[in-house]
Amino acid sequence: MRSSKFVHFDLELAEPTFSSSLTDLIIELDYLRRKKIRGTTHPEIFFQLKHIFHFLESIGSARIEGNNTTVAEYIETKLEGKKKLPYAIKEIQNIEDTMAFVEKSVKNHSINRAFVSEMHRMITDGLLPPPDGEGDHAPGNYRTTNLRINMSDHTPPDFLKVGDYMEELFNFIHRKDSPKYDLLKIAIAHHRFVWIHPFGNGNGRTVRLFTYAMLVKLGFNVDEGRILNPTAVFCSNRDAYYKYLSMADKGTKKGILEWSEYVLKGLKEEIEKIDKLLNYDYLKKEILLPAINDSVDRKYITDTEAKVLKKAVESQVIQAADMKDIFVGKSSQEVSRQIRKLIEKKMLMREGGDKTARKYLIRFDNNYLLRSVIKLLGKKGFLPLRESI
Ligand SMILES: Nc1ncnc2c1ncn2[C@@H]1O[C@H](COP(=O)(O)OP(=O)(O)O)[C@@H](O)[C@H]1O
Ligand SMILES: [Mg+2]
Repeated sequence: MRSSKFVHFDLELAEPTFSSSLTDLIIELDYLRRKKIRGTTHPEIFFQLKHIFHFLESIGSARIEGNNTTVAEYIETKLEGKKKLPYAIKEIQNIEDTMAFVEKSVKNHSINRAFVSEMHRMITDGLLPPPDGEGDHAPGNYRTTNLRINMSDHTPPDFLKVGDYMEELFNFIHRKDSPKYDLLKIAIAHHRFVWIHPFGNGNGRTVRLFTYAMLVKLGFNVDEGRILNPTAVFCSNRDAYYKYLSMADKGTKKGILEWSEYVLKGLKEEIEKIDKLLNYDYLKKEILLPAINDSVDRKYITDTEAKVLKKAVESQVIQAADMKDIFVGKSSQEVSRQIRKLIEKKMLMREGGDKTARKYLIRFDNNYLLRSVIKLLGKKGFLPLRESI
């Protein structure tokens, strides 16, 4: 039964029992948090993967409430480098930009009202407010009307109470509890945020980055080489996400713990995927080399380009001398010219972005290899979105 009345319950830490599978998950995740992963994948290769994940997550986050942009369309528009983006693309770009903002600033900022307001402002920037678009009437400000959540039975609190409920939430996340509660708090805070529904629109997109911000603060961070794919947990199956949110809406210990287990299980799976991609041997054999072959098959790149790229992938970093057997009988000037051409086509890049560097790496965030790399990542189950590209 859909009740139209708001039902309050207290914000508190639900304690899982020691023998529960949720406790196992918390222990495993805490281990992953502490374990400093030293992957064999070159940071500049990993960084490109991270970028791909982040824009796919942004698409996924926008899709939850109906943005229909396909991965192919988004790539197309991005690669064209248009200044004025269509609204649907702008919505996704905003999420990407906000994700970058979170990564850059969360270490030096408290996750407080100002921080969340800024996220919301960026997320809704330049978008039309409802019912015409996915923006908001008051970017960065709490709502001033009462509302319902689409496809849910929960009625959020009266708008007059939003400020107090949010204050309580910020106090909860900053409260000095033992670190063993950190992960549980992240899950509970995610639900509480959308349960309050502080904004007129954009709550879902904001809360997924709010969770990301908390995770980065917790140490699942980017500097140590992990690309965390947090919104993937929520975006890969919208029905499951909504189902577990509504379990938590009940406000019972059982409901909250079931929701928390759903979140943390998804998180663990994401982290395991990322650790796999940090293993260069795996990345090379399962993703990069097959992606180059795919690009040749689809005639995105030539056989010679493929040979150079495979060389680059084989040892991650190459020099002109390594390419001698591809360009047999060619002068070294000619080899340098070929390398320059590949740099212009964004298939190779100089290590460290240094213009004088004579060492090169594969580059796949370009018009040629990007689609194939995404296709292979999808084939191996790394992507939150299921679609062919
Ligand atoms: N039963 C529920 N209880 C609490 N929150 C919910 C429930 N169902 C959905 N939500 C949240 O509401 C969000 C949609 O709210 P909305 O303000 O329209 O966000 P957005 O515009 O970013 O999609 C969903 O993404 C989800 O996070
Ligand atoms: Mg919405």
